[in-house]
Amino acid sequence: MKRQFTRRGFLSTTAAAPVVLQAAEERPAILGGKPVRTGRFPSWPVAERKEEEALAEVARGRKWFRGSGKQVAAFEEAWAKMTGAKYCLATSSGTAALFTSLNALGIGPGDEVLVPPFTFVATINVVLLQYALPVFVDTDPETCQMDAGTIEAAVRPRTAAIIPVHYGGNPANLDEILAIARKRNLRVIEDACQAHLAAWRGRNVGNYGETGCFSFQESKNLNCGDGGAIITNDEALMSRCYAFHNQGRRWKGGGDQEFSYGSAGCNLRLTEFQAAVLLSQMTRLEEQSRTREQNAEYLDSLLREIPGVRPQRRYAGCTRHNHHTYVFRFDKEQFAGMPKPMLLKALNAEGIPGRAGYSPLNTVPFIKKALEGRAYRSLFSKERLAEWNERNHCPGNERLCRESVVFSHQCLLGPRTDMEQIAAGVRKVQAHAAEMARA
Ligand SMILES: Cc1ncc(COP(=O)(O)O)c(C=O)c1O
Repeated sequence: MKRQFTRRGFLSTTAAAPVVLQAAEERPAILGGKPVRTGRFPSWPVAERKEEEALAEVARGRKWFRGSGKQVAAFEEAWAKMTGAKYCLATSSGTAALFTSLNALGIGPGDEVLVPPFTFVATINVVLLQYALPVFVDTDPETCQMDAGTIEAAVRPRTAAIIPVHYGGNPANLDEILAIARKRNLRVIEDACQAHLAAWRGRNVGNYGETGCFSFQESKNLNCGDGGAIITNDEALMSRCYAFHNQGRRWKGGGDQEFSYGSAGCNLRLTEFQAAVLLSQMTRLEEQSRTREQNAEYLDSLLREIPGVRPQRRYAGCTRHNHHTYVFRFDKEQFAGMPKPMLLKALNAEGIPGRAGYSPLNTVPFIKKALEGRAYRSLFSKERLAEWNERNHCPGNERLCRESVVFSHQCLLGPRTDMEQIAAGVRKVQAHAAEMARA
């Protein structure tokens, strides 16, 4: 049964900051009232003199390629140190880091790789590029992460690897994922593309799998437009990653100029310009991360007081959630049956930039089309492809996609009053939900 809210009753049962409560009394912006917020949230990326000078220095030095300059190597050393890893390889993107990892680990045609459906498409594309089968594991809607409890049932004789994604900078359940990987002899490639400085049991994510992959694309908490990195603690594996990203040319000893090729590869190198920007951006990363964490904690506390609103949960092993995104779920019954698109429209009208986030990736038609193509039909039996289709159900993920509202990390970079305005927007929409549904 739908619960109808009266504004008076709603306000009398709550105890949030005064600004949060006051806003709910006013007419909703979508019905012609004044928005909760008219100002902008902090812009991203941050660009200051530091970036300009670093770029100018590289330009003037005329050493723009990693084989001739020193910036990429300096960044690799700094990122390895910051994440606590033995080795780091900079790549041209997060996708390139994942693609390189799969190649260096020999995961390819005929293999199956367990992936979450609540992720950016790159996690799946790299598996398809290897002509391996991306097998979707359902999502735990509470945490937005791969539901580790459903992984083992998805393992088959040709399952070769798991790619857990630390969605939004909130670590996936690494204890359980690693236990299953050990038991079933699977490689783990951590997709930490959104999880710069996130940590599990006090150690940075990316250090738990065979490799950890990061993205430095413009929207990321550490960015240089486009870029990526692999961290690992396995020297032989790093050597294979290096070779793959550099046209099969050797890591140590040979030098980048040497024309000797030990394996097939690609050019997935980062440039000196990108590394120079990363080195500048890195100087702010720790402080920005702390601000996001403090603001997210405050926003959690405000949103928890709103009936039917549930901020994203973390697993017990998470010791640092770096908040590439901020996510809450809403129970539409507590919003007079309001569907998500309408909630977003009402919130956006209040000046609160909540977004829809991911749609269920396991149902996108292009994956099915790829599996019906020539390569997959020659590599996988009809029975295996039919089974893939039959077991491709992720109800937890569908629920999450229906109920989640996502905010970009820069919404967490301003003052605490920004958090109060976000919560005020949500309260206001809830207080007037029935009225909006009738309008
Ligand atoms: C979870 C995830 N994996 C992989 C990628 C790919 O990274 P890039 O865009 O740097 O190739 C991204 C980037 O958005 C991502 O969010």
